[in-house]
Amino acid sequence: MNTYAKITGLGGHVPSRAVDNATLSQWVDTSDQWIQTRTGIRQRHFAGETELAGTLALPAAKQAMAQAGIEGADLDMIVFATTTPDRVYPATACLLQAELNAAPCAAFDVQAVCSGFLYALGIGEAMVAAGRAKTVLIVGAEVFSSTLDWKDRATCVLFGDGAGAAILQADSSPGVMAVRLYADGRYADNLTVNARIRNGELQGDPYTRMDGGTVFRFAVEKMVESAQDVIAKSGSAPDWLVLHQANSRIIEAVRKRLKMSAERCVNCVADYANTSAASIPLALCASSSRFSAGDNVLMAAAGGGFTWGAVMVEWG
Ligand code: COA
Repeated sequence: MNTYAKITGLGGHVPSRAVDNATLSQWVDTSDQWIQTRTGIRQRHFAGETELAGTLALPAAKQAMAQAGIEGADLDMIVFATTTPDRVYPATACLLQAELNAAPCAAFDVQAVCSGFLYALGIGEAMVAAGRAKTVLIVGAEVFSSTLDWKDRATCVLFGDGAGAAILQADSSPGVMAVRLYADGRYADNLTVNARIRNGELQGDPYTRMDGGTVFRFAVEKMVESAQDVIAKSGSAPDWLVLHQANSRIIEAVRKRLKMSAERCVNCVADYANTSAASIPLALCASSSRFSAGDNVLMAAAGGGFTWGAVMVEWG
């Protein structure tokens, strides 16, 4: 009998400070009209000085665990997707594990930028399906604002901070039906923070740099391709589409190519902007009350690396 990984709990958290486009227009040469027309974003949340990815993840993780009815001691593994870890090391997953009283479960970070949550989900699912774990906490959390250059208006208006979490548990019924993950490092320079700490100093450029047009075309093409891969692999048509929440125009282009209706395509870009690894779990939190048991939920993401991928889940 197959062992499936079922999503049994979800949680989300964004910092309390919401910054709308009008406020952003006072900091940088842009306008509400430009941002809404080009991206669909109305506002984003920014972390305060002392808030880190782990800080944002804690309430999200606790909410997911409460929904699943589990405690820290029940966790076999924590997979934490982030581009903006609290420290160079140890992994933010370890810091979160301590807060959750979840020792000695395995805990590590995954770096796949905006595809990070799907990478974490894919790893968690594989461990459950292989019988190596029964209960896994998956987190996507970012303080992406820490990488933004407020002089670069083409990128700083696009991103926000936040965290989302899910509990995966072993079950005899689905569950995660299909996972496809990809990367092509030849595109590393198209979306990057090309910096590191060396001998006590920051070396390189500490800000997000992006070739917006290339990223746009890549994101549409690869989310469509990987979505089609998991549709073929699972043999199921999607009832819901939950895409990486980067830009409403990207979401619309993918939705139309996959021939999904707008009502079945989740879009919360307006409220959160692009929260990178947190975007898919936050979108699940915003929409899962509309899903019915047995619905097929198709998630797809693309981001820095380039990385991309898709996951099909039978809900409930
Ligand atoms: N406010 C006002 N004007 C802006 C602006 C801003 N925030 N950012 C750029 N502009 C200007 C540009 O300078 C350019 O002016 P010019 O024609 O005088 O040179 C003009 O707007 C058009 O820029 P362009 O880059 O052609 O806009 P676009 O329609 O391609 O949209 C993005 C730009 C960034 C919104 C778009 O490329 C995009 O969404 N890319 C994907 C980004 C993304 O989602 N990345 C993360 C994926 S994981």
